[in-house]
Amino acid sequence: MTDTEIHQRLQSSLDSFKDPESQKALSKTGQVTDWVLTGGEAKCRLSLTSMVQPIGQEIADKLRDHLLASVPGLKGVTVTTDTLYRPATPIGQIGLKAKAVIAVAAGKGGVGKSTLAASIALTLQSLGAKVGLLDADVYGPSIPHMLGLEGRPEILDNKIQPIPCGTMPVMSMGFLIGRDQAVVWRGPMLHGSISQFLKDTNWGELDYLIIDMPPGTGDVALTLSQLLPLAGAVIVCTPQEVALLDASKAISMFEKTKVPILGIVENMSGFTDPESGKTFNIFGKGGARQKAIELGVPFLGEVPIQIPLRSEADEGKLADALKNPTISKPFEDVCRALVRSITDQIAAKGPASAALPVL
Ligand SMILES: Nc1ncnc2c1ncn2[C@@H]1O[C@H](COP(=O)(O)OP(=O)(O)OP(=O)(O)O)[C@@H](O)[C@H]1O
Ligand SMILES: [Mg+2]
Repeated sequence: MTDTEIHQRLQSSLDSFKDPESQKALSKTGQVTDWVLTGGEAKCRLSLTSMVQPIGQEIADKLRDHLLASVPGLKGVTVTTDTLYRPATPIGQIGLKAKAVIAVAAGKGGVGKSTLAASIALTLQSLGAKVGLLDADVYGPSIPHMLGLEGRPEILDNKIQPIPCGTMPVMSMGFLIGRDQAVVWRGPMLHGSISQFLKDTNWGELDYLIIDMPPGTGDVALTLSQLLPLAGAVIVCTPQEVALLDASKAISMFEKTKVPILGIVENMSGFTDPESGKTFNIFGKGGARQKAIELGVPFLGEVPIQIPLRSEADEGKLADALKNPTISKPFEDVCRALVRSITDQIAAKGPASAALPVL
Protein backbone atom coordinates (compact mmCIF):
# COMPACT_ATOMS: atom_id res chain seq x y z
CA MET A 1 0.00 0.00 0.00
CA THR A 2 1.22 3.49 -0.80
CA ASP A 3 1.58 6.19 1.80
CA THR A 4 -1.39 8.01 0.24
CA GLU A 5 -3.58 4.94 0.64
CA ILE A 6 -2.39 4.47 4.21
CA HIS A 7 -3.20 8.11 4.90
CA GLN A 8 -6.76 7.68 3.63
CA ARG A 9 -7.24 4.61 5.77
CA LEU A 10 -5.81 6.38 8.82
CA GLN A 11 -8.27 9.22 8.33
CA SER A 12 -11.26 6.91 8.03
CA SER A 13 -10.21 4.84 11.05
CA LEU A 14 -10.68 8.03 13.09
CA ASP A 15 -14.42 7.55 12.49
CA SER A 16 -14.40 4.81 15.09
CA PHE A 17 -12.29 6.53 17.76
CA LYS A 18 -14.09 8.97 20.01
CA ASP A 19 -12.87 12.00 21.88
CA PRO A 20 -13.41 10.93 25.51
CA GLU A 21 -14.91 14.28 26.53
CA SER A 22 -17.34 15.11 23.70
CA GLN A 23 -17.88 11.49 22.61
CA LYS A 24 -17.65 12.63 19.01
CA ALA A 25 -15.56 10.77 16.45
CA LEU A 26 -12.06 12.23 16.09
CA SER A 27 -12.64 12.40 12.34
CA LYS A 28 -15.36 14.99 13.04
CA THR A 29 -13.62 17.07 15.68
CA GLY A 30 -10.37 17.87 13.91
CA GLN A 31 -8.34 16.90 16.98
CA VAL A 32 -5.84 14.82 15.03
CA THR A 33 -3.54 16.93 12.86
CA ASP A 34 -0.04 17.22 11.46
CA TRP A 35 0.09 13.84 9.75
CA VAL A 36 3.47 12.82 8.45
CA LEU A 37 3.82 9.57 6.55
CA THR A 38 7.13 8.16 5.42
CA GLY A 39 7.79 4.60 4.37
CA GLY A 40 4.76 3.20 6.17
CA GLU A 41 5.56 5.04 9.44
CA ALA A 42 2.97 7.58 10.61
CA LYS A 43 3.21 10.54 12.93
CA CYS A 44 0.37 12.74 14.13
CA ARG A 45 -0.63 15.16 16.84
CA LEU A 46 -3.63 14.55 19.11
CA SER A 47 -5.08 17.62 20.85
CA LEU A 48 -6.98 16.94 24.06
CA THR A 49 -8.77 19.27 26.44
CA SER A 50 -7.29 19.99 29.85
CA MET A 51 -10.19 18.00 31.35
CA VAL A 52 -8.80 14.71 30.04
CA GLN A 53 -5.15 15.75 30.15
CA PRO A 54 -4.53 13.60 33.30
CA ILE A 55 -5.10 10.51 31.12
CA GLY A 56 -3.71 12.11 27.95
CA GLN A 57 -0.87 9.63 27.54
CA GLU A 58 -3.11 6.59 27.81
CA ILE A 59 -5.57 8.05 25.28
CA ALA A 60 -2.66 8.67 22.90
CA ASP A 61 -1.48 5.07 23.42
CA LYS A 62 -4.98 3.77 22.74
CA LEU A 63 -5.21 5.83 19.57
CA ARG A 64 -1.83 4.46 18.43
CA ASP A 65 -3.00 0.86 19.02
CA HIS A 66 -6.30 1.59 17.27
CA LEU A 67 -4.54 2.97 14.20
CA LEU A 68 -2.08 0.09 14.08
CA ALA A 69 -4.89 -2.45 14.36
CA SER A 70 -7.12 -0.85 11.75
CA VAL A 71 -4.62 -0.01 9.02
CA PRO A 72 -2.82 -3.00 7.51
CA GLY A 73 0.62 -2.23 6.19
CA LEU A 74 1.27 0.43 8.78
CA LYS A 75 4.64 -0.20 10.39
CA GLY A 76 4.55 2.24 13.25
CA VAL A 77 2.67 5.21 14.68
CA THR A 78 3.89 8.02 16.90
CA VAL A 79 1.16 10.11 18.54
CA THR A 80 2.22 13.30 20.29
CA THR A 81 -0.25 15.23 22.45
CA ASP A 82 -1.18 18.83 22.72
CA THR A 83 -3.71 20.84 24.73
CA LEU A 84 -6.93 22.02 23.17
CA TYR A 85 -9.20 24.68 24.65
CA ARG A 86 -12.89 23.93 24.73
CA PRO A 87 -15.03 26.19 26.94
CA ALA A 88 -17.13 24.83 29.80
CA THR A 89 -20.86 25.34 29.41
CA PRO A 90 -22.26 27.24 32.43
CA ILE A 91 -24.33 24.97 34.65
CA GLY A 92 -28.07 25.88 34.60
CA GLN A 93 -29.30 28.49 37.08
CA ILE A 94 -26.05 28.45 39.00
CA GLY A 95 -23.97 29.70 36.08
CA LEU A 96 -20.89 27.88 37.37
CA LYS A 97 -18.48 27.19 34.53
CA ALA A 98 -17.24 23.73 35.43
CA LYS A 99 -17.26 20.56 33.35
CA ALA A 100 -17.61 18.21 36.31
CA VAL A 101 -18.55 18.88 39.92
CA ILE A 102 -17.36 16.10 42.19
CA ALA A 103 -18.27 15.54 45.84
CA VAL A 104 -15.71 13.80 48.04
CA ALA A 105 -17.73 12.14 50.78
CA ALA A 106 -17.82 9.32 53.32
CA GLY A 107 -20.36 7.77 55.59
CA LYS A 108 -18.09 8.47 58.50
CA GLY A 109 -16.03 11.22 60.10
CA GLY A 110 -12.26 11.31 60.18
CA VAL A 111 -11.53 8.90 57.33
CA GLY A 112 -9.61 11.50 55.32
CA LYS A 113 -12.23 13.25 53.16
CA SER A 114 -10.62 16.67 53.46
CA THR A 115 -7.10 15.31 52.98
CA LEU A 116 -8.22 13.45 49.88
CA ALA A 117 -10.39 16.26 48.48
CA ALA A 118 -7.49 18.73 48.74
CA SER A 119 -4.91 16.23 47.46
CA ILE A 120 -7.08 15.09 44.55
CA ALA A 121 -7.74 18.71 43.58
CA LEU A 122 -4.04 19.64 43.69
CA THR A 123 -2.98 16.47 41.88
CA LEU A 124 -5.58 16.86 39.10
CA GLN A 125 -4.21 20.36 38.63
CA SER A 126 -0.62 19.15 38.52
CA LEU A 127 -1.69 16.60 35.87
CA GLY A 128 -2.94 19.42 33.64
CA ALA A 129 -6.60 20.05 34.55
CA LYS A 130 -8.24 23.33 35.65
CA VAL A 131 -9.45 22.77 39.18
CA GLY A 132 -11.23 24.58 42.02
CA LEU A 133 -11.74 23.35 45.59
CA LEU A 134 -14.84 24.06 47.63
CA ASP A 135 -14.85 23.22 51.32
CA ALA A 136 -18.53 22.44 51.95
CA ASP A 137 -17.88 21.49 55.56
CA VAL A 138 -19.47 24.66 56.84
CA TYR A 139 -19.58 23.28 60.41
CA GLY A 140 -15.91 22.37 60.67
CA PRO A 141 -13.96 23.70 57.71
CA SER A 142 -10.46 22.22 57.67
CA ILE A 143 -9.26 22.98 54.14
CA PRO A 144 -7.85 26.49 54.92
CA HIS A 145 -5.81 25.03 57.77
CA MET A 146 -4.45 22.07 55.75
CA LEU A 147 -3.43 24.32 52.87
CA GLY A 148 -2.18 27.14 55.09
CA LEU A 149 -4.59 29.65 53.55
CA GLU A 150 -5.67 32.79 55.32
CA GLY A 151 -7.41 36.01 54.51
CA ARG A 152 -10.88 37.26 53.87
CA PRO A 153 -12.28 36.88 50.38
CA GLU A 154 -12.89 40.25 48.75
CA ILE A 155 -15.97 41.16 46.81
CA LEU A 156 -15.26 42.44 43.30
CA ASP A 157 -18.01 43.12 40.77
CA ASN A 158 -20.50 41.40 43.09
CA LYS A 159 -18.44 38.23 43.08
CA ILE A 160 -16.64 36.63 46.01
CA GLN A 161 -12.96 36.27 45.15
CA PRO A 162 -11.71 32.85 46.21
CA ILE A 163 -8.39 32.51 48.02
CA PRO A 164 -5.78 30.88 45.77
CA CYS A 165 -3.60 27.94 46.76
CA GLY A 166 -0.82 28.46 44.26
CA THR A 167 -3.05 29.07 41.26
CA MET A 168 -6.00 26.94 42.41
CA PRO A 169 -9.08 28.84 43.64
CA VAL A 170 -10.32 27.71 47.05
CA MET A 171 -13.48 28.72 48.91
CA SER A 172 -14.35 27.83 52.49
CA MET A 173 -16.54 28.99 55.33
CA GLY A 174 -13.25 29.05 57.24
CA PHE A 175 -12.34 32.28 55.41
CA LEU A 176 -15.50 33.97 56.64
CA ILE A 177 -15.56 32.99 60.31
CA GLY A 178 -12.95 33.21 63.04
CA ARG A 179 -10.60 30.26 63.54
CA ASP A 180 -12.25 28.89 66.71
CA GLN A 181 -15.72 30.20 66.06
CA ALA A 182 -18.53 27.66 66.03
CA VAL A 183 -21.25 27.95 63.43
CA VAL A 184 -24.82 27.09 64.22
CA TRP A 185 -26.74 26.62 61.04
CA ARG A 186 -30.37 26.26 60.33
CA GLY A 187 -31.35 24.41 57.17
CA PRO A 188 -32.12 27.43 54.96
CA MET A 189 -28.90 29.20 55.98
CA LEU A 190 -26.90 26.15 55.07
CA HIS A 191 -28.60 25.95 51.70
CA GLY A 192 -28.00 29.67 51.17
CA SER A 193 -24.31 29.56 51.97
CA ILE A 194 -23.57 26.55 49.76
CA SER A 195 -25.55 28.11 46.95
CA GLN A 196 -23.59 31.37 47.34
CA PHE A 197 -20.28 29.53 47.29
CA LEU A 198 -21.27 27.94 44.00
CA LYS A 199 -23.06 30.87 42.38
CA ASP A 200 -21.40 34.01 43.61
CA THR A 201 -17.77 32.94 43.74
CA ASN A 202 -15.46 33.95 40.94
CA TRP A 203 -14.29 30.42 40.10
CA GLY A 204 -13.23 31.28 36.58
CA GLU A 205 -13.47 28.42 34.13
CA LEU A 206 -12.94 24.98 35.58
CA ASP A 207 -12.71 21.42 34.41
CA TYR A 208 -13.30 20.08 37.91
CA LEU A 209 -14.79 21.59 41.03
CA ILE A 210 -13.88 19.28 43.90
CA ILE A 211 -16.15 19.54 46.94
CA ASP A 212 -15.01 18.45 50.39
CA MET A 213 -18.16 17.18 52.09
CA PRO A 214 -18.85 17.36 55.82
CA PRO A 215 -19.04 14.13 57.83
CA GLY A 216 -22.34 12.31 57.85
CA THR A 217 -24.66 11.94 54.96
CA GLY A 218 -27.47 14.44 55.24
CA ASP A 219 -28.13 18.06 54.47
CA VAL A 220 -25.25 19.27 52.37
CA ALA A 221 -25.48 16.39 49.92
CA LEU A 222 -29.18 17.03 49.48
CA THR A 223 -28.63 20.76 49.04
CA LEU A 224 -25.94 20.14 46.43
CA SER A 225 -28.02 17.68 44.48
CA GLN A 226 -30.84 20.24 44.40
CA LEU A 227 -28.59 23.05 43.23
CA LEU A 228 -26.77 21.42 40.37
CA PRO A 229 -26.16 18.16 38.56
CA LEU A 230 -23.12 16.56 40.20
CA ALA A 231 -20.88 14.55 37.91
CA GLY A 232 -20.73 12.20 40.85
CA ALA A 233 -19.37 11.31 44.27
CA VAL A 234 -16.06 9.84 45.34
CA ILE A 235 -16.50 7.76 48.48
CA VAL A 236 -13.58 7.65 50.89
CA CYS A 237 -13.30 4.81 53.35
CA THR A 238 -10.75 3.05 55.48
CA PRO A 239 -10.29 -0.72 55.19
CA GLN A 240 -11.98 -1.94 58.38
CA GLU A 241 -15.34 -3.65 58.19
CA VAL A 242 -17.10 -1.01 60.34
CA ALA A 243 -15.98 1.76 58.01
CA LEU A 244 -17.04 -0.23 54.95
CA LEU A 245 -20.57 -0.52 56.30
CA ASP A 246 -20.73 3.26 56.54
CA ALA A 247 -19.37 3.58 53.01
CA SER A 248 -22.23 1.43 51.75
CA LYS A 249 -24.68 3.73 53.52
CA ALA A 250 -23.13 6.81 51.90
CA ILE A 251 -23.34 5.14 48.50
CA SER A 252 -26.99 4.29 48.90
CA MET A 253 -27.71 7.85 50.06
CA PHE A 254 -26.13 9.29 46.90
CA GLU A 255 -27.91 6.76 44.75
CA LYS A 256 -31.24 7.86 46.27
CA THR A 257 -30.52 11.44 45.24
CA LYS A 258 -29.54 10.15 41.75
CA VAL A 259 -25.91 11.18 42.13
CA PRO A 260 -23.64 8.73 40.28
CA ILE A 261 -20.89 7.02 42.26
CA LEU A 262 -17.59 7.70 40.52
CA GLY A 263 -15.78 5.27 42.76
CA ILE A 264 -14.38 4.30 46.14
CA VAL A 265 -10.92 5.18 47.46
CA GLU A 266 -9.34 3.20 50.28
CA ASN A 267 -7.50 5.62 52.55
CA MET A 268 -5.08 4.66 55.34
CA SER A 269 -4.49 1.49 53.39
CA GLY A 270 -1.43 0.07 55.16
CA PHE A 271 1.68 1.76 56.48
CA THR A 272 5.19 1.12 55.21
CA ASP A 273 7.86 1.93 57.79
CA PRO A 274 10.29 4.16 55.88
CA GLU A 275 13.22 2.79 57.92
CA SER A 276 12.67 -0.97 57.79
CA GLY A 277 10.58 -1.01 54.60
CA LYS A 278 8.14 -3.31 56.40
CA THR A 279 4.43 -2.86 55.70
CA PHE A 280 1.84 -2.99 58.46
CA ASN A 281 -1.81 -3.19 57.53
CA ILE A 282 -2.99 -1.24 60.55
CA PHE A 283 -6.66 -1.07 59.56
CA GLY A 284 -6.49 -4.03 57.20
CA LYS A 285 -6.18 -3.77 53.44
CA GLY A 286 -8.21 -4.52 50.36
CA GLY A 287 -11.61 -4.22 52.04
CA ALA A 288 -12.68 -1.25 49.93
CA ARG A 289 -11.71 -2.93 46.68
CA GLN A 290 -13.80 -5.92 47.70
CA LYS A 291 -16.71 -3.66 48.64
CA ALA A 292 -16.51 -1.83 45.31
CA ILE A 293 -16.71 -5.13 43.42
CA GLU A 294 -19.64 -6.21 45.60
CA LEU A 295 -21.51 -2.95 44.95
CA GLY A 296 -20.59 -2.77 41.28
CA VAL A 297 -18.88 0.63 41.53
CA PRO A 298 -15.38 1.55 40.31
CA PHE A 299 -12.46 1.16 42.69
CA LEU A 300 -10.20 4.20 42.35
CA GLY A 301 -7.18 3.08 44.34
CA GLU A 302 -5.45 2.93 47.70
CA VAL A 303 -3.76 5.73 49.63
CA PRO A 304 -1.43 4.42 52.34
CA ILE A 305 -0.85 6.06 55.71
CA GLN A 306 2.00 8.47 55.08
CA ILE A 307 3.20 10.44 58.09
CA PRO A 308 4.05 13.63 56.13
CA LEU A 309 0.46 13.79 54.88
CA ARG A 310 -0.66 14.29 58.47
CA SER A 311 2.29 16.33 59.77
CA GLU A 312 2.48 18.70 56.79
CA ALA A 313 -1.30 19.17 56.73
CA ASP A 314 -1.17 20.09 60.42
CA GLU A 315 1.33 22.80 59.50
CA GLY A 316 -0.65 24.05 56.53
CA LYS A 317 1.77 22.56 54.04
CA LEU A 318 -0.23 19.80 52.38
CA ALA A 319 0.55 21.26 48.94
CA ASP A 320 4.28 21.04 49.73
CA ALA A 321 3.96 17.42 50.90
CA LEU A 322 2.45 16.55 47.51
CA LYS A 323 5.55 17.83 45.73
CA ASN A 324 7.30 14.68 46.96
CA PRO A 325 6.70 12.04 44.26
CA THR A 326 6.44 9.21 46.81
CA ILE A 327 3.61 11.02 48.56
CA SER A 328 1.83 12.10 45.38
CA LYS A 329 2.06 8.80 43.45
CA PRO A 330 -1.02 7.17 45.01
CA PHE A 331 -3.01 10.37 44.38
CA GLU A 332 -1.93 10.44 40.75
CA ASP A 333 -3.22 6.90 40.34
CA VAL A 334 -6.50 7.84 42.04
CA CYS A 335 -6.87 10.96 39.84
CA ARG A 336 -6.31 8.97 36.64
CA ALA A 337 -8.85 6.37 37.74
CA LEU A 338 -11.25 9.19 38.57
CA VAL A 339 -10.93 10.85 35.15
CA ARG A 340 -11.35 7.41 33.55
CA SER A 341 -14.50 6.87 35.59
CA ILE A 342 -15.90 10.27 34.52
CA THR A 343 -15.18 9.67 30.84
CA ASP A 344 -16.73 6.18 31.15
CA GLN A 345 -19.86 7.83 32.56
CA ILE A 346 -19.96 10.30 29.67
CA ALA A 347 -19.48 7.42 27.22
CA ALA A 348 -22.28 5.41 28.83
CA LYS A 349 -24.68 8.34 28.47
CA GLY A 350 -23.69 9.08 24.88
CA PRO A 351 -22.76 12.29 23.04
CA ALA A 352 -26.07 14.10 23.69
CA SER A 353 -25.46 14.19 27.43
CA ALA A 354 -21.95 15.51 26.99
CA ALA A 355 -23.64 18.65 25.64
CA LEU A 356 -20.31 20.17 24.81
CA PRO A 357 -19.67 22.29 21.80
CA VAL A 358 -17.04 20.72 19.57
CA LEU A 359 -14.26 23.10 18.68
N1 LIG B 1 -3.36 8.71 54.19
C1 LIG B 1 -3.13 9.38 55.32
N2 LIG B 1 -1.93 9.29 55.96
C2 LIG B 1 -1.69 9.95 57.10
N3 LIG B 1 -2.59 10.73 57.72
C3 LIG B 1 -3.80 10.87 57.14
C4 LIG B 1 -4.15 10.21 55.91
N4 LIG B 1 -5.42 10.56 55.59
C5 LIG B 1 -5.85 11.38 56.56
N5 LIG B 1 -4.89 11.58 57.49
C6 LIG B 1 -4.98 12.37 58.73
O1 LIG B 1 -6.14 11.91 59.43
C7 LIG B 1 -6.84 12.99 60.04
C8 LIG B 1 -8.27 13.05 59.54
O2 LIG B 1 -8.25 13.38 58.16
P1 LIG B 1 -9.30 14.39 57.51
O3 LIG B 1 -9.47 15.60 58.33
O4 LIG B 1 -8.91 14.54 56.09
O5 LIG B 1 -10.61 13.49 57.63
P2 LIG B 1 -12.13 13.90 57.34
O6 LIG B 1 -12.81 12.67 56.88
O7 LIG B 1 -12.18 15.09 56.47
O8 LIG B 1 -12.61 14.30 58.80
P3 LIG B 1 -14.01 15.05 59.17
O9 LIG B 1 -15.04 13.96 59.12
O10 LIG B 1 -13.75 15.55 60.54
O11 LIG B 1 -14.25 16.11 58.15
C9 LIG B 1 -6.03 14.23 59.73
O12 LIG B 1 -5.15 14.50 60.79
C10 LIG B 1 -5.23 13.85 58.48
O13 LIG B 1 -4.02 14.56 58.37
MG1 LIG C 1 -13.13 16.96 56.73
